[in-house]
Amino acid sequence: MEEKKIATQSTKISMSEMVMPNDTNNLNTLFGGKLMYWMDMAAAICAHKHTSNVVVTASVDNITFKAPIHKGDIVTLNAFITRVFNTSMEIFIEVTAQNSNKKEKIESNTAFFTFVALNQKSKPIKVNEIYPENKNDKKLFDGALRRRQLRLILAGKMKPKDANELKSIFN
Ligand SMILES: CC(C)(COP(=O)(O)OP(=O)(O)OC[C@H]1O[C@@H](n2cnc3c(N)ncnc32)[C@H](O)[C@@H]1OP(=O)(O)O)[C@@H](O)C(=O)NCCC(=O)NCCS
Repeated sequence: MEEKKIATQSTKISMSEMVMPNDTNNLNTLFGGKLMYWMDMAAAICAHKHTSNVVVTASVDNITFKAPIHKGDIVTLNAFITRVFNTSMEIFIEVTAQNSNKKEKIESNTAFFTFVALNQKSKPIKVNEIYPENKNDKKLFDGALRRRQLRLILAGKMKPKDANELKSIFN
């Protein structure tokens, strides 16, 4: 059966959480590990909705926390798939926080997660491809090959000499 390709933005999901006392550290700001949990969850929902299979986190690129998020703030996570490789897919997540007092919205952080779809026997399974619709998504789509090779090298799963997308860095 011919696979039906869908646009990157059609894979987008959004979820919001309110920062409760249990989610905070001793400064009454959001505990970083809790935010990473929410990011992983948003990425998992996004990947699962696209594949309808079990999905697991294979890797997470670096996460930088730009500004503290306070107790009572509303955290919103937007996630979409930037590119499907074969059995794995890259997911981009954007996190914003709405301040409960000042009603200001801050950009907290962004990150790339890689998820792998598994079959009933826990073996990686092919994921339906997607295509970028707009200029920004095309930029993310194109850059995904470079980011994939870099993370596979860092994970010891690819030799630098085989990273054709990164030749300018390694050679
Ligand atoms: C992720 C996992 C399924 C990969 O299995 P594997 O036996 O290494 O399978 P493969 O080598 O065939 O790789 C499968 C895909 O994962 C990708 N992959 C594997 N390790 C990766 C990594 N560190 N970063 C990015 N992608 C990775 C491969 O590139 C491949 O993608 P592709 O098919 O699109 O080319 C396996 O390592 C696993 O189950 N890890 C634990 C996942 C988990 O429990 N996550 C929650 C953490 S608590």
